[in-house]
Amino acid sequence: MSKVILITGASSGIGKAIGDFLCNKNFKVYGTSRDPSKYLGSNFQLFDLNVNNSASINKCIDEIIKIEGGIDVLINNAGVGITGPLEEIPEIEIENNFKTNFFGPLNIIKKILPFMRSKKSGLIINITSLAAYVGTPYRSVYSASKAALDLVSETLNMEIKPFNINVVTIAPGEFSTNIASRRYHAFSEKTSPYHLKYSKALELMNNHVDGGADPKLIGKLVLKIINSKNPKKKYIAGSFIEKIAPYLKLLLPQKYFENIIMKNY
Ligand SMILES: NC(=O)c1ccc[n+]([C@@H]2O[C@H](COP(=O)([O-])OP(=O)(O)OC[C@H]3O[C@@H](n4cnc5c(N)ncnc54)[C@H](OP(=O)(O)O)[C@@H]3O)[C@@H](O)[C@H]2O)c1
Repeated sequence: MSKVILITGASSGIGKAIGDFLCNKNFKVYGTSRDPSKYLGSNFQLFDLNVNNSASINKCIDEIIKIEGGIDVLINNAGVGITGPLEEIPEIEIENNFKTNFFGPLNIIKKILPFMRSKKSGLIINITSLAAYVGTPYRSVYSASKAALDLVSETLNMEIKPFNINVVTIAPGEFSTNIASRRYHAFSEKTSPYHLKYSKALELMNNHVDGGADPKLIGKLVLKIINSKNPKKKYIAGSFIEKIAPYLKLLLPQKYFENIIMKNY
C-alpha cells in the first residue's frame, strides 16, 4: 500500500514541487489550495483548504480520511511572508501572519493527530524557515512565526513519540518560488526613518528568493525523511553557508555575527 500524503499549500512553489516529486515516486498525494479550480492541471488532487478557517480544515481532512481511511504523512507547508520595520507593520498584519504560519498549522496537527494515534503511526513535517534560526532586519514577524512553529515541533515530538508519530521540521533557505510577490510588505513612506534601508533590504530579499534554489530539492529531502526509520528532528535545506549559519550564530561573538548580518542587509 502506498503511503497517503497531505501537503498544505500545494498549488505552487515548494508544496507543488514536493507533491510532483512524491507523485513520481508512487505515493498517494493530496494537496490543498484556497482555490483548487485555478490549478486544474495539477498532477495530484487539490482539496479546498484555508488554514485560517477551522471549518475548512475539518472538511478537507474528513474528506481525505473518508477516501483513504487515514493520512500517513502531513506536510504543513502553506505559509506567507511578511516584511517591514516592526514599528510600521499594522497589528492586523502581524496577526494575519501568525494565523497562517503558526495557528493554522497547529489546528491542522490537532485535527489529524487522533487519526495518526489510532493507527499508532504517522509523520508530520513542518516547513519552517532558516529565518526561524537567524533573524535578519525587516523580517521580525516572519522569523517569529516560523521560530514559534519550530519550537512547538520540538516539544510536540516528545509528547507524541509514545504513539510512534514523528515531528520533523525542514527549514528552507532561499528557494525560487512566488513567495516574494505574495508576501505582505509594510508600506514605508519616503519620509519614514526606515525608508532607505528597508527599500534596499527588500530589494535584496527579493533578489535572494528569485535567485534561490530549485524547490525540487525539498521534494528529494522529504522522500529521504519519509524513507528514514529514525529521521532527524530538524533539517535545513539550502546552500552550505545557509546550513552552517545557525551554528556560526552560536559560535561567533554576538556582536561580530550581528555586524555580518547588518553589513549584508
Ligand atoms: N521560498 C522560500 O525561499 C522559502 C524559504 C523559507 C521558508 N519557506 C516556506 O515554504 C512554504 C512554501 O512557500 P513557497 O515559497 O512555496 O511560497 P508560495 O509559492 O507562495 O506558496 C505558498 C502556498 O501556501 C498556500 N497558502 C497561502 N496562504 C494560505 C492559507 N491561508 N491557507 C491555505 N494555503 C495557503 C498557497 O496556496 P493558495 O494560494 O493556492 O491557497 C501556496 O500554495 C511557506 O511556509 C514558506 O514560509 C519558503
